[in-house]
Amino acid sequence: MSQLTSLLNDLLKEFSQQSSLMPNDLPKIQDMPNERESLANVINLLLKEGNVHHSDSWAAHMTPKTSPISILGQLIAASHNGNLLSPKLYPLMAEIEQQTLQYLCQLFGHQYGHFVAGSSYANLEALWQAKQSRLTDSPIVYAARSAHYSIIKACQILDLDLRYIASEHSEQLSIEALEHACKQHPPLAIIATVGTTTMGAIDPVSECISIAKRYDAWCHIDAAWGGALVLLPEHKSLFQSISKAHSVCFDPHKSWQQPKPASILLYQQPLSPILSEDSSYLEQSPMNSLPGSRGGELFLPLWLTLTHSGSDSLRQQTQQRLQQADLLVKRLEKESNWVVYPSNTGIVCFRPNKEIDLSPLIEQGVVSQAIINNEHVYRIVFASTHTQADALITVLKPYF
Ligand SMILES: Cc1ncc(COP(=O)(O)O)c(C=O)c1O
Repeated sequence: MSQLTSLLNDLLKEFSQQSSLMPNDLPKIQDMPNERESLANVINLLLKEGNVHHSDSWAAHMTPKTSPISILGQLIAASHNGNLLSPKLYPLMAEIEQQTLQYLCQLFGHQYGHFVAGSSYANLEALWQAKQSRLTDSPIVYAARSAHYSIIKACQILDLDLRYIASEHSEQLSIEALEHACKQHPPLAIIATVGTTTMGAIDPVSECISIAKRYDAWCHIDAAWGGALVLLPEHKSLFQSISKAHSVCFDPHKSWQQPKPASILLYQQPLSPILSEDSSYLEQSPMNSLPGSRGGELFLPLWLTLTHSGSDSLRQQTQQRLQQADLLVKRLEKESNWVVYPSNTGIVCFRPNKEIDLSPLIEQGVVSQAIINNEHVYRIVFASTHTQADALITVLKPYF
């Protein structure tokens, strides 16, 4: 630890002058070596830029403030830099990976899994496995239009036929429409989202799983955002259903305040080997997952967070975020006459009922824009424990 601390101290001392640099003056890589002074300015600017996550009205995106212990985890992983393709060489890091994986498997009620660099990769891999599983020969994938765009990309890459199912209650997939579509054209896979990107809606998971079962189709749950609810007892039955899906993904780097990338793909059956060729230089090639070289970067920050602060602290943080989201909904409903779209997962969308332009707040990272039912809405995301309903009301009030 002292080795790491002194290395960091040296670096920070070297680069700790005050900055006066503007982003356009960024030194060019091809002009290397750059003067230390200008690099120090860039580093200061970057730290300042990242500081927006500490603001209590920062709520435009799924980008939370990260905790010091998780940052330490990432630094240690980078400094360790071992490759877990050869786990015997790094028994400690390999054990930590297994522990973190087992913890998540138990939490989500799945048997197997591996870490991935984001849920876009997880969605791609889940659909790849669905195709590989040969449950059916159908190339059709059903999802609501509110599914994340990584599903479209995955289907394009895998040459699958993505078909959108109508939604009801704003963004939730309609079970009636899904039933009808499956009857007409049985699918390879059904995707249900737990926490849609735009408004945090939860698809009817249990019904999607039952329908998938009836048609011998794969059911993948994209819980990249809403997976954080797994720690809350009031959502037990949702996660009991999720445990019966073929696969589920979750992004601790969104709602558990972890540094990116930190994602997990979990599944019920060992994945069938993707490759047919083994490599000669490894004792055991990663034959049944997409990622190759990896160190502790995807899980060590989370392991340290859990062992240092405990899962209760993650639960409390999640509860706090959701309480702040509820508070904002109530205040907006009381103090403005805007249309409000609440969710159970910490995303609040709203539509001012006249021509109100919140562009200045978009630039400040307070709100983002989205479209619901062909209507433009503004969106607030409670990803950070720093985000406060009162602070948001203060900046929104002038527009009421
Ligand atoms: C529901 C959902 N799925 C998948 C993703 C993609 O995750 P990542 O950005 O980690 O690749 C996102 C990102 O916002 C998301 O909201």
